[in-house]
Amino acid sequence: MAPLAHYFLFVLIILAVSSASVTTRSAGSEAEALLQWKDSLHNPSDLSLLSWKLLRPHNYSSGHHDMKSRGGNCCRWTGIVCNRYGSVMKINLTSSNLRGTLQNFSFSSFPNLHTFVLYNHSLYGSIPSHISNLSRLTYLDLRMNHFSGNIPSEMGLLTSLRVIYLSMNDLNGSLPLIISSIRNLSSLSILTMGANKISDFIPQEIGRLKSLVELWLFENHLVNSIPASIGNLSHLSILSLYTNKITGSIPRELGKLESLTELSLDENNLTGSIPRELGQLKSLVELYLDGNHLTGSIPQAFGNLSSLDEIDLNDNCLTGSIPASIGNLSNLTGLYLYGNQLSHLVPSALGNLVKLRYLELGNNQFSGPIPSEIGKLKSVIWLSFYGNKVTGSIPLELNNLTNLEYLQLQANLLSGDLPENICFGGKLKEFYASYNNFTPTIQKRLKSCTTLIRIELQANQLTGNISEVFGIYPNLYYMDLSNNKFYGELSEMWGRYNNLSMLNISNNEISGQLPVELGKASQLRILDLSSNLLEKIPKELGQLKLLFSLKLNNNSLSSGVPTEIGMLLELRQLDLSSNNLSGPIPQDLANCSKLIYLNMSKNKFSEIIPFQIGKLEIIEATENFESKYCIGVGGYGSVYKSLLSTGEVVAVKKFHENSGVLSQESFKSEISALTKVRHRNIIKLLGYCSHRRHSFLVYEFMEEGSLAKILSDNMKAMELDWTKRVNVVKGLADAISYMHLECCPTIVHRDISSKNVLLDAEFEAHISDFGSARIFDPESSNWTSFAGTFGYSAPELAFTMEVNQKSDVYSYGVVTLEVIMGKHPGDLISTLLTSSSPPAADRILLMDVIDQRLSPPRRQIAEQVASVAKLAFACIHPSPQSRPTMKQVSEKLSTSSPSLLQPLDMITLKQLL
Ligand SMILES: *[C@@H]1O[C@H](CO)[C@@H](O)[C@H](O)[C@H]1NC(C)=O
Ligand SMILES: *[C@@H]1O[C@H](CO)[C@@H](O)[C@H](O)[C@H]1NC(C)=O
Ligand SMILES: *[C@@H]1O[C@H](CO)[C@@H](O)[C@H](O)[C@H]1NC(C)=O
Ligand SMILES: *[C@@H]1O[C@H](CO)[C@@H](O)[C@H](O)[C@H]1NC(C)=O
Ligand SMILES: *[C@@H]1O[C@H](CO)[C@@H](O)[C@H](O)[C@H]1NC(C)=O
Ligand SMILES: *[C@@H]1O[C@H](CO)[C@@H](O)[C@H](O)[C@H]1NC(C)=O
Ligand SMILES: *[C@@H]1O[C@H](CO)[C@@H](O)[C@H](O)[C@H]1NC(C)=O
Repeated sequence: MAPLAHYFLFVLIILAVSSASVTTRSAGSEAEALLQWKDSLHNPSDLSLLSWKLLRPHNYSSGHHDMKSRGGNCCRWTGIVCNRYGSVMKINLTSSNLRGTLQNFSFSSFPNLHTFVLYNHSLYGSIPSHISNLSRLTYLDLRMNHFSGNIPSEMGLLTSLRVIYLSMNDLNGSLPLIISSIRNLSSLSILTMGANKISDFIPQEIGRLKSLVELWLFENHLVNSIPASIGNLSHLSILSLYTNKITGSIPRELGKLESLTELSLDENNLTGSIPRELGQLKSLVELYLDGNHLTGSIPQAFGNLSSLDEIDLNDNCLTGSIPASIGNLSNLTGLYLYGNQLSHLVPSALGNLVKLRYLELGNNQFSGPIPSEIGKLKSVIWLSFYGNKVTGSIPLELNNLTNLEYLQLQANLLSGDLPENICFGGKLKEFYASYNNFTPTIQKRLKSCTTLIRIELQANQLTGNISEVFGIYPNLYYMDLSNNKFYGELSEMWGRYNNLSMLNISNNEISGQLPVELGKASQLRILDLSSNLLEKIPKELGQLKLLFSLKLNNNSLSSGVPTEIGMLLELRQLDLSSNNLSGPIPQDLANCSKLIYLNMSKNKFSEIIPFQIGKLEIIEATENFESKYCIGVGGYGSVYKSLLSTGEVVAVKKFHENSGVLSQESFKSEISALTKVRHRNIIKLLGYCSHRRHSFLVYEFMEEGSLAKILSDNMKAMELDWTKRVNVVKGLADAISYMHLECCPTIVHRDISSKNVLLDAEFEAHISDFGSARIFDPESSNWTSFAGTFGYSAPELAFTMEVNQKSDVYSYGVVTLEVIMGKHPGDLISTLLTSSSPPAADRILLMDVIDQRLSPPRRQIAEQVASVAKLAFACIHPSPQSRPTMKQVSEKLSTSSPSLLQPLDMITLKQLL
């Protein structure tokens, strides 16, 4: 077009725009649309929208607001920018937590809007399809909201769109469909949809979005491989696909992306080798391929990536050596190669990387010495050779690293010594040299390194007088010297580590008394001096109020445990085992309510050790028995559901404090009997504790709770169908038979009831509460409460205290009838006992007494139900001698039942008696 034609076209456009927008009606409807949307928000009075109101002359003669005049100019409102004709061209509301949807946003009211930014709010719901009415939209930013649903395909009608920012929402939908709907947006240069729930794969069609400069699809659910067509996006500068489930290999076509500055393919499931074509990406500044399954070697051509700032290849399966060409990357600040299988020598060419701040070579197979050229990395802060097979001594040149703060040399084959007072440039904070073969006296060299905050020298065969070889490090918080051969006594100096939080000198030859000054190391949380030759515990250790782990086991400690140890209220772990300690145990240990591990075994204590079970996980796990975890209360205690730190859920039955009947002796004998019981239908005792403050039993946790609870809950009762019910009574019979016959000594439960039968997630029955609930106190006059539960105990118990197996059989019969009937059979039993004419048993049909919440049992299961009912009636025979043994019951139930003599619905109770 000729220049003049350009001019006329321009004028025409201006005229068109002004005629459409200059009228107040249009401006008014924009303001009205904004107010309508504002009103639809949950927080329309949010301060950010304070200016969003109409200014109009007051009509003092009018008593009411004239709603008709609701219109006017919104161009001065926060976040609104108008064109010169007063029409809104930009809406930009950022970070003010507006809550609501876009459903009432009248997109059609904004014919001139080209920028629409609602960044970082709490907007939700779908992106309405009528967003397509914003025909001039070029810039859309809805990042950091809670928009959900599909991205509307109508977005593809917004042909002027250049920028789409949708990252960090809850959008879902299939990427091939999304790309297909926007494939004609020929101006689109930025497309960000990271951190959503977009699924499927990156389609070949993506190659049509030729203007793309940035493509962000990180943190979605994308699978399959990266299409080669991405290589056609010749303007692409950023390709961010990290944290998806992308598989396959990296397409070599990516090497065509000459403008690429950032390539993030990390945290996917990429396989194959790294294509050498990536070495052509001359503009590349950041390359992230970490967290994949890439194999093969690092391409030599990477030495051409001259703009590279950071390269992260951590956690892959790369092999071979580091190409010396990497030394050409003179702008590199981070080289991360952790967790591969790279081998051979570390190339001395790395010494050229004078801007390098992070060199991470840990967990590979590098061998040979650390090149002295590493000493030229004058910017380096972090240097890690951890977990390789590096040999030789530490090069003295490392002392030139004036910015070094972290030096990780642990788990290598390093040996040799260092010159005195080497501090690696003078800023060293963390020094890791454990698991090597250093000269036994190397630690001396660190004596003047006052900047150290962490020292790890464990497992090195180091030796020397512990109080002479180390200096004072004012900021030290972590020191591990374990598994060496340090000797001598700890001097008062060890009280001057004011910031020390963890000190481990276990497995050395430290002797004598612990210095009282140690009590001044007030930040100590972990103190492990186990396996030494220590002789006495000073009471000053009780001043270490933050201490949560104290291990003094396997020493030569004698005399008593200072009572002050019981005042360490944060203590979780206390191991004093394998010493010669004697005298009383500090009773205050019972106050250490956080204690989860206590080991006092192998000593010479004069009294029974409280907490003797060692593992006190329970007290911790139930937060000292808070009522919110209580799942039941019984006669003797409360039952708590407790989550152990192992992730295991257990039930803890805690006995009421000061329970008079609960003498330590009877409790202990109960426990010893219980620990012998092993049956799939008897609850497993996992642990116990007896102490004056906390006496408890720990059982496996039964998800479904007690049989009584299930039967009283209509939903649960229906879940417990006939097959499951028959299985329950079979399991009970097996368990009681086992207790009566196979256990040694024989166990009579004495308290079988539907409350004491617990069901696991599969509705398998487990008898509980035996032993604990039947502790017999001869001094109590209220003995019936110990002999069973009213309604389940055999009638003869009214006359005799002698309890034998037959009373369990009776209780079993009651429970079994309860299972069949869905409720306690008390009324039925008394009806049957009441003689009338004709006898009740003649008139009552089995069908009428079984649980009516279930549909009647049929076929084989009907036969089993009848057979179970018959056995149950036999079990509740008034005369103990006439009842079957549990073994007989168990055997009858496990043999296939005889076929019914007549249909189930005709069987009377008399036929079962
Ligand atoms: C949206 O507008 C419709 C009708 O225009 C109205 O019924 C509805 O209540 C509005 N929604 C909200 C959230 O204000
Ligand atoms: C002011 O209110 C009065 C009473 O409602 C009405 O008659 C009058 O027309 C209003 N004036 C204007 C300027 O709106
Ligand atoms: C939107 O407003 C924010 C803050 O006022 C500003 O930083 C940002 O550049 C604006 N965005 C657009 C696209 O105008
Ligand atoms: C990654 O890919 C490998 C081989 O292709 C496969 O065995 C593995 O299950 C995948 N892992 C994930 C997390 O997709
Ligand atoms: C290296 O970094 C400097 C400073 O940031 C920059 O000027 C230079 O262009 C970079 N070199 C290359 C090859 O990118
Ligand atoms: C680096 O260390 C070596 C050995 O300690 C020393 O000879 C050399 O002078 C140091 N170089 C610099 C630049 O400090
Ligand atoms: C005896 O047992 C009953 C029933 O368990 C109970 O309510 C009552 O308080 C007990 N009496 C005594 C003195 O313990």
